[in-house]
Amino acid sequence: MFNLESFDIKLNTDFIGRNFIYSEEIDSTNSFLLNKENKFSTDGTVLLAEKQTKGRGRQDRVWYSAKGQNLTFSILLTSKKIYAKKFNLINFAASLSVALAIENLFQLKTELKWPNDVLINGKKIAGILLESTSKGSKIERLVIGIGVNVNQSVFQGVYNIPPTSLKSELNENIDREKLLAEFLNTFEEMLEKIKTNPDEILRDWKARCRLIGEKILIESGEKSRYGIFDDLDEDGFLLLNVRGKIEKIHFGDVSVA
Ligand code: BTN
Repeated sequence: MFNLESFDIKLNTDFIGRNFIYSEEIDSTNSFLLNKENKFSTDGTVLLAEKQTKGRGRQDRVWYSAKGQNLTFSILLTSKKIYAKKFNLINFAASLSVALAIENLFQLKTELKWPNDVLINGKKIAGILLESTSKGSKIERLVIGIGVNVNQSVFQGVYNIPPTSLKSELNENIDREKLLAEFLNTFEEMLEKIKTNPDEILRDWKARCRLIGEKILIESGEKSRYGIFDDLDEDGFLLLNVRGKIEKIHFGDVSVA
């Protein structure tokens, strides 16, 4: 069981996670925080669930996570200062913060896969699902959903990238409270950096992205595109070199071609 006290002592943030909701079981932490009908609208609210009955991943996939072993949580941002243009940077800030938290606490080498997967030794350790609701052109609620495989050692189901967990990599049980606090502390700093130094986020993210310069395949729904992963633009979109012509890719799954 998640120990709220031990988590709270390690949390160093001003607003992220200061309103913390703990749930034994929920359909999806993202769905819950996205829903305007719920009574939570405080900027920085974090909802952690021990079990999700309808955990969702990107591209309509299911997110499987064994009860009480991992971290499945969402962060709600409601500040007026959220702009749709910043979505990719928030995505990068989240995946980079997961990578940094893992590197700092466990000295494991991580790799980032566009748009926001975190890998260790080519296997997926964490995934992120960013969703929002808007009114007219204004974003009302932005929800960053994160699933980190922490203490699960057996994975059943169908995966597009083979999964791993911190326990599988390190052969020991991991303190989830410490990892969540470290992540949230880093993520709050990173959100500030989106305003003050977004280039540094892009630079640090790219430094962990092995596929830049490689021949890749991008798949989104029925469509697929081959090319060379040229770079990211300043908004975090993928620039794909298709026979000498640069195309901007907004979403999709990347794999080595
Ligand atoms: C992906 O890699 O496809 C994204 C996975 C995101 C999973 C998390 S778990 C917490 C939050 N609630 C959900 O239903 N999904 C996200």
